Amino acid sequence: MIKKNGRIDRETVQKILDTADIVDVVSDFVTLKRRGANYIGLCPFHNERTPSFSVSKSKGICKCFSCGKGGSPVNFIMEHEKMSFNEALRYLAKKYHIEIKEHELTDAEREEESDRENMFNVNEFALAHFEHNLTDTEEGRDIGYSYFRERGINDAAIKRFRLGYSIEKGNELLRQAKERGYNEKYLIDTGLVARREDGSIYDRFRGRVIYPVHTISGKVVAFGGRTLRSDKKMAKYVNSPESIIYSKSRELYGLYQAKKSISEKNKCILVEGYMDVISMSQSGIENVVASSGTSLTQGQIRLIHRFTDNVTLIYDSDPAGIKASLRGIDLLLAEGLNMKVVLLPDGDDPDSFAQNHPASEVEEYISTHETDFIRFKTEILLKDAANDPIARSKAISDIVRSISVIPDDIVRSLYVKECSRALDIDEKVLLLQIKKYVTERAEQQAQQNLRDKARASLSDAGNPSSSQATDGNIPADAGTNAPAEATEATATVGTAFIQHDKSRAGILAPFEHDIARYIVRYGMVELPTFDDDDRQVNIRVIDYIMQEFAFDNITFCNPIYSRIVEECRKLIDSDWESDRAAAEAASLQQRAEEWEKGTAEIRNTAISLEQISQKEKMLLETIDNAHYNRLDQQTEMFFIRHLASSPDDDLRRTVTQMASSKHKLSKVHSKYSHIESEKEKLDELLPRAIYALKDAMLQYDIRNKRDELKQVAKAGDMDKVKAIMLDIADLDKLRRDYAQKLGDRVILPKG
Ligand code: UTP
Ligand code: MN
Repeated sequence: MIKKNGRIDRETVQKILDTADIVDVVSDFVTLKRRGANYIGLCPFHNERTPSFSVSKSKGICKCFSCGKGGSPVNFIMEHEKMSFNEALRYLAKKYHIEIKEHELTDAEREEESDRENMFNVNEFALAHFEHNLTDTEEGRDIGYSYFRERGINDAAIKRFRLGYSIEKGNELLRQAKERGYNEKYLIDTGLVARREDGSIYDRFRGRVIYPVHTISGKVVAFGGRTLRSDKKMAKYVNSPESIIYSKSRELYGLYQAKKSISEKNKCILVEGYMDVISMSQSGIENVVASSGTSLTQGQIRLIHRFTDNVTLIYDSDPAGIKASLRGIDLLLAEGLNMKVVLLPDGDDPDSFAQNHPASEVEEYISTHETDFIRFKTEILLKDAANDPIARSKAISDIVRSISVIPDDIVRSLYVKECSRALDIDEKVLLLQIKKYVTERAEQQAQQNLRDKARASLSDAGNPSSSQATDGNIPADAGTNAPAEATEATATVGTAFIQHDKSRAGILAPFEHDIARYIVRYGMVELPTFDDDDRQVNIRVIDYIMQEFAFDNITFCNPIYSRIVEECRKLIDSDWESDRAAAEAASLQQRAEEWEKGTAEIRNTAISLEQISQKEKMLLETIDNAHYNRLDQQTEMFFIRHLASSPDDDLRRTVTQMASSKHKLSKVHSKYSHIESEKEKLDELLPRAIYALKDAMLQYDIRNKRDELKQVAKAGDMDKVKAIMLDIADLDKLRRDYAQKLGDRVILPKG
């Protein structure tokens, strides 16, 4: 057995590091969108619906400004694929076709490989074994290969999906694996081999065609084996069990093969089975994945969401297919995905449909039969409820509940309109019902949060080591990791003194205050930026600031400000959606009342029909403006409203003071003839404020270095003097570069 853990020579390592492109590497796992100078996408390391994962092509790094994970291409792969440094280098070498000379593993090296790595190795071996069986053994050709042929699968598709066959008799896989020196333990851990009660072991897959399941990065984590007999007593599919490398709810069949196409077409087609994916893909529709017969999980939905916002479900039109398509739907909607449904003609499934029609017809069918999910649900449920008022009202609740989980207000309000028309129910009634559901869920969430908090504080109390050494005890290993900390501190310009130097916090405080105030006052306000195609993509003030911080290695060093930001981020997750929905419902209701009152007045006073219509037009404009103003108001007051009642005295006071302070706008005034509000100038003010903080940090570091220089010069150590002078020159250069770059940093690209 060849491979995989020997050292890679320096030159090759350098070549790999130089070649790997961060945008390219990350794009294999997340669709990135251009946002100003950077790229942004959904973080692959934690659950989120609004993107915080930022990638800077010029800096060659990625970073999530919410959870903090990221780094260079190698760091990213290590973290995401849970690989060692060496493994990550190998991954990148393979991606960029950089050759690494391999040598046979010594026993000692083999010992060192991790369990995970060993399991992947065994699966790799099994994959090759099954593939070999299919085409290069008599049994495989006669039974497996001819079966695929009968079902219309061609050689290219067999290769693309790495289809295989497992020999019926004699535990062939087990025998050959042992012959090649693979450890029995890993054959059992991966489930390729199973143990009987009497202790003997045997091949799990026998006499079945094999569908390997790949992770998003193309590693084989599991196999599905389909029987070729029609014997009803035999399980149709045997699948690999869950293991430390395989969690069924976190993989989607076909995603590895489909992800590029999903990203390009900005759409993912979701089907049920292995064969559906393979046949569709073979016919040329490659953006297809399967949930493999179970209902979708949130983990799977998030995998899709990394690549697109648009999902189309394709199901058989029998009742089971329709029911399946209704399952898990609220999960998809709640994730913020746009959902469409296509029902196939009677008797067809995606597999047979793709086999019997050319790709152009399949695409045509999909695009003409794609139904908006809510409309689909409305039709199906109302048809079932035809003349039964109780069933009808149940159906309506069901539909409204689905609408209520949609996170985007605009999308949601469109559905409310549509639903009102389709069901012939007043929008106001629907909105009230939605508000009820949203409140219900918010309450449940709040209760859950309370329970979580209670649990956390209980376990904290019982576990003294989890709260930091409050009694002055120094952890035993405090001295040993000091060197590592030191290197980190020098790599991170300006953050080296956070813990030790009180005066630094003092110096930076006004700059940090300034930025924290922007977050508190305008955090949820959206700023326009543009992507590659000049389409407008908005970014929230808080996200913009966090993104810039991540890239420039800035963190607040005054705890009060980092606490404020942390609280704000929590509020977005816990309260924003329900607050927004409630504000919208209330405002729309007010709008409706104003309209009624206004039109009544117009009819009482106007003298001609023409005047009525003219006055009504003006009225509409006025009340619409008022409506949007109320929503803007809610956006701007969101953080303040919540934080102003925080139990944390310091935080509450600071926020309250920020909310009421008037900011000087002198610089802005002098440049423009009319006075503009602070909010309108955020695109200039924010980069400036961040620049000011960064510059203060650099100046502080330079001053410190100068002091050090004096000391060292007195002692007459010339080598040290030179070193420090170089450091100072570097910092000075950073300052200049940064000042220059500020020009590119304004949010709106200069027209
Ligand atoms: P289907 O029974 O529709 O099978 O299950 P299929 O994939 O269309 O198979 P063909 O067309 O008869 O060859 C749909 C999916 O559900 C999972 C598999 O992933 C399958 O592709 N499944 C089904 C199982 O995992 N185990 C089962 O016993 C049945
Ligand atoms: Mn099928």
